Amino acid sequence: MSESISSGPTDPGAEIAQKLGTLRAEFEAKLAEARDDAALQRIKSDFFGPKGELTLMSRSVGQLPSEQRPVMGKAINEVKRALESELDRKIQDHEARKRDEELRRSRLDMTLPGRALHAKGAVHPVARVMYEISDIFARMGFSVATGPEVELDFYNFEALNFPPDHPARDMQDTFFVRPPDGRAIKDLVLRTHTSPVQIRAMERQGAPIRIIAPGRVYRCDQDATHSPMFHQIEVLCVDEGVSFAHLKGTLTSFIQSFFGSRGVRFRPSFFPFVEPGAEVDMQCTMCGGEGCRICKQTGWVEILGAGMVHPVLLESCGIDSERYTGFAAGLGLDRIALLRWGLDELAHLYRSDVRFLSQI
Ligand code: PHE
Repeated sequence: MSESISSGPTDPGAEIAQKLGTLRAEFEAKLAEARDDAALQRIKSDFFGPKGELTLMSRSVGQLPSEQRPVMGKAINEVKRALESELDRKIQDHEARKRDEELRRSRLDMTLPGRALHAKGAVHPVARVMYEISDIFARMGFSVATGPEVELDFYNFEALNFPPDHPARDMQDTFFVRPPDGRAIKDLVLRTHTSPVQIRAMERQGAPIRIIAPGRVYRCDQDATHSPMFHQIEVLCVDEGVSFAHLKGTLTSFIQSFFGSRGVRFRPSFFPFVEPGAEVDMQCTMCGGEGCRICKQTGWVEILGAGMVHPVLLESCGIDSERYTGFAAGLGLDRIALLRWGLDELAHLYRSDVRFLSQI
């Protein structure tokens, strides 16, 4: 009996087996086409849901003759399990692909430059010049000394051999300070140069001495190349046997290590605290000596004042001027910054305009 049922055209077992084959083919085709979640879910409910084809088919096993049930039940279950795991695999692949895509889209690229939230600060051009110059002199054995910006008239002028009412004071338009205790107005000044530090350092340290003194100085003066507050560095070297040759050698080597190799010349000049005195020029940094706006067509720019320390200063600081000699120099840092970066106006340095400062 079992033979006639399994081979006949109306055999329900054969019908189910055939239907299983068609379903399987249909399933494979749909699965191959499925591209998204919705399509996969639809396959799931079409085949395995409560009203899915395979669910219905499992149920129909109950209608088979009892001897066919275990065989067909098993066949259907096997197909069901196979297809279900195929679908699961496809769903998992799909999920994995989605996760990859998501990761790729949101990936943190560690090689990208960071986004700066705050602009980074930098050393001010004048301070930079000050540090560089201090470094050069430090390598030549100079150490750094300082003095007050509100200075006694005595140190700013008198001890530097400017007698009261001496016309040389006119070179330096002075801010006088009226102290709260009502002392004579002319006793206190905003220092007009860093030279008073020469006196303070020699009083303190005696000879031999080798110092530089950077700092702010003040003069009642303002135009494109003058500011009421500006910066100088004082240079002082006192020892046995120091001559004008040392002055020339030291200053020339400073200028050339700061600005690069170029011509330097010494012109006689007057400052009451040196004898002899000189002004020092170098070949213009802008035109290299051909003549331009910066050097007023001369090819030379003045960059410092210098001279041999006047014996009167040494003696007044208790240094034997028969045994010791020295040289001194003073240079304007703001001017050097102008030359260094080819600026036309001193005020650029004091406006705190980041658009300008960031170009330097
Ligand atoms: N103190 C002088 C000035 O400010 C410069 C100077 C310093 C000159 C030392 C000679 C020696 O003009």
